[in-house]
Amino acid sequence: MKVAAVALASVTLATVVLATVASGFSRTEQVSSPTYTKDIAPLIADRCGMCHDAGGAAPFGLLTYADAKRHATQIATVTRSRFMPPWKADPDNGPFVGQHPLSDAEIDLIRRWVDGGTVEGDPRDLPAPRHWAEGWRLGQPDLIVTLPEAYTLQAEGTDVFRIFVIPLPVTKTRFVRGLEFRPGNAKVVHHANIRVDKTAASRALDAADPGPGYSGLILRSADYPEGHFLGWTPGQVAPLLPKDLSWRLDPKTDLVIETHMQPSGKKESVQPSIGLYFSDTPPTRTPAMLRLGRQTIDIPAGEKQYIVTDSYTLPVDVEVEALQPHAHYRAREVQGDATLPDGTKKPLIHIADWDFRWQHVFQYETPLRLPKGTTLSMRWVYDNSAANTRNPERPPKRAQWGQRSSDEMGDLWMQVLTRNEPDLVTLTRQFRAKVAAEDVNGYEVEIEKHPNDIGLHDDAALLYLEVGRPENAVAHFQKSLALKGGSAPAHYNLGTALSVAGRLDEAVYEYRQAIQIDASYANAHNNLGSVLLSQGKTAEAAREFREVIRLQPQSASGLANLAWVLATASRPADRDATQAVDLAERVVDLTGRRDARALDVLAAAYASAGRFDRAQDAASAALRLLPAEPLASEIRQRQDLYRQGRPYVAQDPQSRR
Ligand code: HEC
Repeated sequence: MKVAAVALASVTLATVVLATVASGFSRTEQVSSPTYTKDIAPLIADRCGMCHDAGGAAPFGLLTYADAKRHATQIATVTRSRFMPPWKADPDNGPFVGQHPLSDAEIDLIRRWVDGGTVEGDPRDLPAPRHWAEGWRLGQPDLIVTLPEAYTLQAEGTDVFRIFVIPLPVTKTRFVRGLEFRPGNAKVVHHANIRVDKTAASRALDAADPGPGYSGLILRSADYPEGHFLGWTPGQVAPLLPKDLSWRLDPKTDLVIETHMQPSGKKESVQPSIGLYFSDTPPTRTPAMLRLGRQTIDIPAGEKQYIVTDSYTLPVDVEVEALQPHAHYRAREVQGDATLPDGTKKPLIHIADWDFRWQHVFQYETPLRLPKGTTLSMRWVYDNSAANTRNPERPPKRAQWGQRSSDEMGDLWMQVLTRNEPDLVTLTRQFRAKVAAEDVNGYEVEIEKHPNDIGLHDDAALLYLEVGRPENAVAHFQKSLALKGGSAPAHYNLGTALSVAGRLDEAVYEYRQAIQIDASYANAHNNLGSVLLSQGKTAEAAREFREVIRLQPQSASGLANLAWVLATASRPADRDATQAVDLAERVVDLTGRRDARALDVLAAAYASAGRFDRAQDAASAALRLLPAEPLASEIRQRQDLYRQGRPYVAQDPQSRR
């Protein structure tokens, strides 16, 4: 009873407020009603013009009195409902660049203008015209590239994803402060992600596919520049970066533009261009790119509430520069939060009505500081039922993780700056391990779908080696070897994984297979030698290393390995100090005295030749190069021996067992 009464009372209150507004309004109207030229034109130019201009993303222009008048009622409706200007995130997230919501007073101004009969007003009040669609919003670019041939988008059908590749005519290394994307047909281009490929792999796919660009997946070799987002959504242009944050662009790099287009009902020609803005000085700071997200997504058909969560606790202080939530059609709601060490929860981004078509990079107006110990978290909700009008499958189908828009994804990307270089190293190293561990899940999903794809097996195996799961790497290289029907590199790869897994006899067998197919395979000889050495087969190992040097006289690792054996072999008969010094000096020269392992080998060689002063110096030089690595403690122990006038002698692995 009581509750109902309270509710009623507030309804009455609201009515009273409304009445006051209405009567206040009719009073001001008599004084001066808003006019188009004075009140509405500047507002529309500022908040709507970047899309509602000729050639903009919106279906019609709004920059003349006639256009604004024609759409007046609609304008009042969509501004009141806050459907326009489009902004998907909660208004209190951010503030982000490009987020210019209309204030309540501005929305009311529009309503009063419409209710007052869309009065035009004095033409002298009109603001100077701004032509959004012409010219570059960041100023004249230093380099403009355009897709050489326009792409023709079909009239009908579903969304089209096309990857365009534009080679850059850059002959020396440049540093990029900004990039402005112009879609070349804003009506149909919905969003674009721009990456750089330093290899010719994307270009090759483009050449193999008829027409401009290619259809398919973005290659791993096409990536964002280290630590930077390059995304585009209608009406938005990322501001120029501060000079110290530019990114490096090397000659022979291609721009790879992943373009999401929607057919308009008639054939459309799409020819994007990109303006690049350079800085003359290299960056002094590199941001890190963090990614929360899961690649184990597997949503049953019809599931209404499928939830994906992930979190990560920051090992260092950071400043968040920008965020990009990513998901495909079935996501309904996305939420990213930061929980500070004291337990306070700070919302980063919340989109209550996720729409795949509004991919956007949310760049903070002022970077958000988060202290070490802050936990970043994400919670994405998916609806794979028929009730989700954006569901691409009717009837709904099981949806698994995957790059295609018919698959699902769930990631929160964050661009962060650390306070200094050591913090950046700590963060990226730790984060790389997290991401790699998640990426292997993605590979397993892809391999389930394409079990005979050799490249997938090879990439997955390499990633398993990186995350310290060599047995899984062995399994994938075995599969790859079987699919290839035996090739020297396939045996070699398998041998490498087996040796990391500690299966040394099998590793020896695979390396020998590789060498049988290709006797001049220097890396196979080298790795075989290393495995034989760790099995205590010193003489056999030395034979392999000699073969490496015969095949590749400049091979630093071949020379270093042989020098090491000759300096440190446990059996005196296998040692040759003079030759060891000679080889080790060559390696140190070859590596410009910048390789700690080479200097360590040289130190051991000097010590075995009884030249302990020189041995100590070389060990010190090695330690200066890597103060904190695990190898450093081994070098220090060896240096202690040299101080005592003793050489380092390898332990016989047989006696260790
Ligand atoms: C970022 C680009 C962008 C901005 C900024 C923008 N619009 Fe739009 N507008 C669009 C697009 C795209 C559509 C088509 C909507 C769709 O298809 O979902 C649209 C549609 C509309 C419509 C038609 C809605 C309907 O129901 O069909 C109106 C009216 C409108 N905009 C008014 C405005 C006004 C007023 C502003 C400024 C206050 C504004 N827009 C700012 C992109 C924009």
